[in-house]
Amino acid sequence: MSAQELPAVQLKNLTKRIGQKSIVDHLSFDIPKGEVFGFLGPNGAGKTTTIRMIVGLIAISEGQVLIHGLDVQKNFVKAMSNIGCIVENPELYKYLTGYQNLLHMARMGQHPIDPKRIKEVVALVGLEDRIHDKVKTYSLGMRQRLGLAQALLHKPSILILDEPTNGLDPAGIRELRDHLRHLAKEEGMTVIVSSHLLSEMELMCDRVAVISHGKLIQVEQIADMVASENGIQTTTLTVNNASDAKELLSNTLKLEATLSSGDDQKLSIVSDRDQVADAIKVLVDNNIRVYEASTQRKTLEDTFLKMTGDESIA
Ligand SMILES: Nc1ncnc2c1ncn2[C@@H]1O[C@H](COP(=O)(O)OP(=O)(O)O)[C@@H](O)[C@H]1O
Ligand SMILES: [Mg+2]
Repeated sequence: MSAQELPAVQLKNLTKRIGQKSIVDHLSFDIPKGEVFGFLGPNGAGKTTTIRMIVGLIAISEGQVLIHGLDVQKNFVKAMSNIGCIVENPELYKYLTGYQNLLHMARMGQHPIDPKRIKEVVALVGLEDRIHDKVKTYSLGMRQRLGLAQALLHKPSILILDEPTNGLDPAGIRELRDHLRHLAKEEGMTVIVSSHLLSEMELMCDRVAVISHGKLIQVEQIADMVASENGIQTTTLTVNNASDAKELLSNTLKLEATLSSGDDQKLSIVSDRDQVADAIKVLVDNNIRVYEASTQRKTLEDTFLKMTGDESIA
């Protein structure tokens, strides 16, 4: 990808005001092509509102959305021809077969769709075996995939899914994740998903924009998010005398350890890796026996809570 190439989607000061309130508040960031990109934020953060503005389901109060450089407010039809989208649940006719649903969708679209394309999308989402069964016999995961097939019919280069894992079981989530990653990697598609669950985003996305109260907290590569927290860790040490060890660490390294209640051999420290090594050396040099040192990395969940200010992300 050349450096000059335009991002798939650009948000510039994107704002939605309802009454006096800005429920989406000057969001600005770029979504690069070919990535799985996440909008991550607690319920009510403004994710759905942002997506609705991107796809033109609601008016923009202020700012701009550019799709491959096209302003959606000026070039709506052309900009939208690049986008496949499922906001909330896909619209499906339960008493028709999967195939009939796709046929119906293909006929309703702006441009004629070749029946060959129906075959392609069915294969893409792995529904070949069941496509001639009625949708009412499908599992939720299969309905989701049929919705995905619908959204892919017109060969969009950008796929947008709002909370796509809602209601799916772990197997369904995994399946969806594999499909989305495949679409990004093998088909070069840009995939945008929203979620209030960090653990899902961590597995699915290359990069996430963290949104809280309609504002952008940060955009970061998932890998960097993990790495930036790796500096600090909690280490539990098992020694022959924890209270002596605590005093020693405080006096020599100014490290304030916490004694473990109910175990006089355990204490824990919050520090970077080097300080763990220093602590062990000081203890050993002062004849305290160190039996074990175990480190718990801070989880991304901790990071996320810190960034969004301890909001509920249930
Ligand atoms: N049409 C509306 N009128 C008033 N408030 C709304 C409307 N739509 C959304 N909101 C409010 O805006 C905030 C963001 O909502 P939403 O975009 O649905 O968040 P998310 O998808 O991140 O859960 C919420 O507080 C919600 O109650
Ligand atoms: Mg939502």
